[in-house]
Amino acid sequence: MNRPPAKVGDRVEEIDTPALVLELDAFERNLRTLADSVKGRPLRVRPHAKTHKCAEIAKRQLAHGAIGVCCQKVAEAEALVEGGINDVLVSNEVVGTPKIARLAALSKRAHIGVCVDHPDNLAALEASGAKLDVYIELEVGMRRCGIAPGPAALQLARAIHRSKNLRFAGLQAYHGRAQHMRTMEERHAAIEAAAQHVFEMKRLLEKAGIPCPIVTGAGSGTYMLEVEAGAWDEIQPGSYIFMDVDYAKNEWAAPLPRFEHALFVLATVMSRPAADRAIVDAGLKASSVDSGLPLVWRREGLTYRGASDEHGAIEIAAGAQAPALGDKLYLVPGHCDPTVNLYDWYVCVRHDRVESVWSVTARGALN
Ligand SMILES: Cc1ncc(COP(=O)(O)O)c(C=O)c1O
Repeated sequence: MNRPPAKVGDRVEEIDTPALVLELDAFERNLRTLADSVKGRPLRVRPHAKTHKCAEIAKRQLAHGAIGVCCQKVAEAEALVEGGINDVLVSNEVVGTPKIARLAALSKRAHIGVCVDHPDNLAALEASGAKLDVYIELEVGMRRCGIAPGPAALQLARAIHRSKNLRFAGLQAYHGRAQHMRTMEERHAAIEAAAQHVFEMKRLLEKAGIPCPIVTGAGSGTYMLEVEAGAWDEIQPGSYIFMDVDYAKNEWAAPLPRFEHALFVLATVMSRPAADRAIVDAGLKASSVDSGLPLVWRREGLTYRGASDEHGAIEIAAGAQAPALGDKLYLVPGHCDPTVNLYDWYVCVRHDRVESVWSVTARGALN
């Protein structure tokens, strides 16, 4: 692990760059905004830790009412349990002997859930002796993992229901593509359609006499639509704590609250080769660009135009206040999750001072 780019008490100018900076005031407001938006509803909040990969952040989500967290990988779950989180849903299929053996071992240390969409995978989980909450992942429009509601899904539910070690915990219905549909209307339509799949599956389960304790799913871009559709009991938003450039392009309107940018890549101007150009030390290895380039934060006339491995090119508009060599710029990442995975440390800042430094404990936890 690399050494932290700052220490507690440093001023922002003293942070070594590129660095992943968490603005604590905005982060804490995002935590409160989510909690307030679901207050008084019979709903469980299980935020997605794939976004932050950090037990310190998970603990703050629990303090704001979350009942546990989600993650996507067994290695992420291991890091979170190691960090003191004892209720983790791997909201994903876990396939292959080594992973299943690790999941089984972890299930003896903490309350662990997992998703299935195939009877062979279920048989392998059962054979491992793991003690798990098992959710059937439904295909609800995302076309990723998941099984359609119908007889095969019902067979799967029966098999889990019969199992000695595995507990049928319910359904996972997550529509990832819907999160980034730009208009509220499109997202509404996608989640309404997803809800119909959930209702259909619930009817099948009810007819078969199999209780369905929980339907889990939803992300930052839609979760209130799932809540209002009435088919979900638990929500899994992840990006809401940070927000990124891509999410900021969505239309945000009631019933969804608006979250703030709290995550930044701090970069230094390392070259000023032309009057209209500055080069910063944050390129592809400092900020993920799969969902678009970073945004230069609160510096009018400065536009991040291109990234190479270790460099970012900033265009300076005529008349804009040009940054000098050595100046620091805050960049909002295009996509928060893969950006976080590039760093070992969060430098947590309040009022331009470093208040704490948290480890990205599950960085690179891909297995
Ligand atoms: C299964 C699942 N649930 C929840 C989320 C969280 O979504 P978001 O970060 O958009 O809030 C994701 C993100 O990809 C996911 O895959």
